[in-house]
Amino acid sequence: MEMAEIKLKSSDGAGSPWDLDDDRAYQDWRRDKLARAADSAALAGPVEISDLANPGESERRELARRCADSNAAFYIRPNQPEDEDAVREQLRGFAAAMGLRIAEKHRSAGSHGIVALKVSDKPSQKGYIPYSRRPMNWHTDGYYNAPDQKIRAMVLHCVRPASDGGVNQFLDPEIAYIRLRDENPDYIDALMHPRAMTIPENREADGSLRPASIGPVFSVDRETGALEMRYTARTRSIAWRDDAVTARAVARLAEILAQGDPFMATLKMEAGQGVLCNNSLHNRTGFDPDRTTDSERLLFRIRFHNRVPRS
Ligand SMILES: [Fe+2]
Repeated sequence: MEMAEIKLKSSDGAGSPWDLDDDRAYQDWRRDKLARAADSAALAGPVEISDLANPGESERRELARRCADSNAAFYIRPNQPEDEDAVREQLRGFAAAMGLRIAEKHRSAGSHGIVALKVSDKPSQKGYIPYSRRPMNWHTDGYYNAPDQKIRAMVLHCVRPASDGGVNQFLDPEIAYIRLRDENPDYIDALMHPRAMTIPENREADGSLRPASIGPVFSVDRETGALEMRYTARTRSIAWRDDAVTARAVARLAEILAQGDPFMATLKMEAGQGVLCNNSLHNRTGFDPDRTTDSERLLFRIRFHNRVPRS
């Protein structure tokens, strides 16, 4: 793995906030980041988009600005059409308008890289938590992907909410980084180790073998200089680097996520509502526990290889 050799100094000679030896660069970035994130959080409600397939320039700019400041932007498309295929088509237009490159390889990415998250008995989906009514613990998407298949952004779009539950929470990975680094920079050092987190190989439902995924939790993208996060709070089928500081860092991160944070967003998305994010940390509660028939909840998910471009 080459991650350990990544240059944390920026090319113009200025310090990088991700360099653990440069506290000044970190403090400068931190102050600015928290101010911008607070501004974004204070904004009242989601960005209203009248034509999802073709968002206007001011709508696009506002979404990009919120993603630059807090790595996520919530939006609402009032009066969403009932027809699922029409919504899919609109989401494809939306992704293109936002300058995003769809990652199509997911096994469930049926139509044009858009995955329908709903309760499913399909052989390829049965038994997987995303396609059940069960809660999902904190994670970033694609944490088991190969490095060249990294997921850097995604859209979650609600077609139909659950009757009961199905609440999502989101947290900006940069806020998680700040909480950990403020407490102990050694936690960041441990979580940036190129072998920090291993997801063992797995036999997929279609019979293919997904190789083991070994890598850091936090890393810095060579091209953009952006902080990226690869994480799951699951405790089965995962191996953390056998090291005391790593164990403490992982435990603290789980605690921070469980206890909540002023910058955490908690919401139950309604029909037509969605989030565009730079693969923020997210979870969901279980839903419709008492229904004997299938839950109606349907969310579309699209994953992207690139981050939301700045406007
Ligand atoms: Fe997810």
